[in-house]
Amino acid sequence: MTIKNVTILGSGIMGHGIAQVSAMAGYKVFLRDIEQKFLDKAMEKIKWSLQKLAEKNKITSDKAETFYSNIIPMVDLQAATNNTDLIIEAVPEDFKLKEKVYGELNNLVKKETIFASNTSTLPITELSQLTNRPENFIGVHFFNPPQLMKLVEVIPGKETNEIIVKELTNYVKSLNKSPVICNKDVPGFIVNRIFIPLVHEALYALERDKVSKDMVDSAVKFKLDFPMGIFELADYTGLDVIYKASYEMNLRDKKVLLMHPKVKEMYDGMELGQKSGRGFYEYKGENYERIKLTPEKATQYEPSSILGVAANNAAWLIENNVCTLEDLNNALKLGMGLKTEIFELVKKQSPIKIVNRLKDLEGRYGDFYHPHKYLEDLK
Ligand code: 3HC
Repeated sequence: MTIKNVTILGSGIMGHGIAQVSAMAGYKVFLRDIEQKFLDKAMEKIKWSLQKLAEKNKITSDKAETFYSNIIPMVDLQAATNNTDLIIEAVPEDFKLKEKVYGELNNLVKKETIFASNTSTLPITELSQLTNRPENFIGVHFFNPPQLMKLVEVIPGKETNEIIVKELTNYVKSLNKSPVICNKDVPGFIVNRIFIPLVHEALYALERDKVSKDMVDSAVKFKLDFPMGIFELADYTGLDVIYKASYEMNLRDKKVLLMHPKVKEMYDGMELGQKSGRGFYEYKGENYERIKLTPEKATQYEPSSILGVAANNAAWLIENNVCTLEDLNNALKLGMGLKTEIFELVKKQSPIKIVNRLKDLEGRYGDFYHPHKYLEDLK
C-alpha cells in the first residue's frame, strides 16, 4: 500500500506539528479534534510556523500557502477517517481516553488503514490490544517541536507486521526525518526514558543542593551542552504531558523515575508551562519564548546528579538491548538536541565521579540510583 492521505487525531502541540510536517511532505492531511476552537488554534500555529520557515528561506511563501491548504481541519471523526491510509493518534496521554478513541475507530475505519500512536510512554502492545488490527498497529513517536526535531522513534508492538514497520519507516523518511527503531516496547522508549526522569531529578536538586532553577538550567545548558535547561524544556513540553508520561511510566516500571510530588501539584494547579503562561517560569503569552540562561549562573552548580540519572537510564537501555549505542546517540542528538554524546559527557566529568555520586544518592535515597553495570564498566 502507498500512503497518500494521513489523518492526525488531536491538534495539540504534537498533533498540529505532525499534520504540518506531513503536509510539507506532500500528503493530504485531515486534522481532527473534538472542538472547532482547538482546530482554529492549531491552524493558527501552523500558519505561524510556516511563516517562520518562509522567513528563514527554508520554504517559499507560495509553498507555505500550498502546505497550509493541504491540511483540512475537521471535527467529524467519520469524515476525517473514512478515506485515509494512515491514522496517527496524538490525543492526551491517558490510557482510558485512548481506549475510547480506538473503540470509536474500530467501528468506523476500513481494515487496511494503519493505526499509529504518537504515545510518548504507553506500551504499544497494550494499545494495540484496544484495536481490531494489532498487526496493523505501530508506535511513531515525534519530538517537540515536530517541525524542527529530526527524530521519530518507531516502535513495533508484539504483533506488528514487518510490512507495517517498513511502511512507517518510509513514511518517516519521506518527512525528511530520521527513524530510530526501538527494539523493545519499554515505558518511555528511548528519549523519554532519559528526559522525563530529569524533570523530577532537577526538582530534587533544588531541595537537596539548595540552588535556583535558573542555576540548574544554566548548568545543564552550558556544562552539559543541552540546548535548553531541564525546567525550560519541561515548560516548553507542558507539565500536563510530563505528569501524564511520568504517571504512566511509573505505573509500569518503578525503576524509570523517582516521582517528585511537585510535578503533580503543578499539573493539578494548571501550571502547565508555556501553554498556560506559568510553569517553572512565567511567560508573556503562548508563543515561542526562551529563558535567559547564562554561563555565569552555570558556574554556581555542578549537575552531576542530573548527568548521573540520565547516563544511568541510558546504560539501562543499552544493557537491555532496547537500542544500540549508535541509535541511542543519534536519538539524543536528533530528539533532544544534545551536542555531546551522553557517555562522552560522563567520560569528560570522570566515570568514577559519576558512579560514586549515584552510589552516594543510592545510600541516601534508595535503589532508584543504583548504578547499572554498563555505567560502572565505562572507562
Ligand atoms: N516552527 C518553525 N520555527 C520555529 C518553531 C516551529 N514550531 N519553533 C521555534 N521556531 C523558531 C523560533 O521562533 C526561532 O526563530 P528566530 O530565530 O526567528 O527567533 C528558531 O526557530 C529557534 O531559535 P532558538 O534560538 O530558540 O533556537 P535553538 O537553536 O535553541 O533551537 C530548538 C530551538 C530546536 C527547540 C532547540 O532549543 C532544541 O532542540 N531544544 C530541545 C527540544 C527537545 O528536547 N525536544 C524534545 C522534548 S521530549 C518530547 O518532545 C517527547 C514528548 O513525548 C514528551
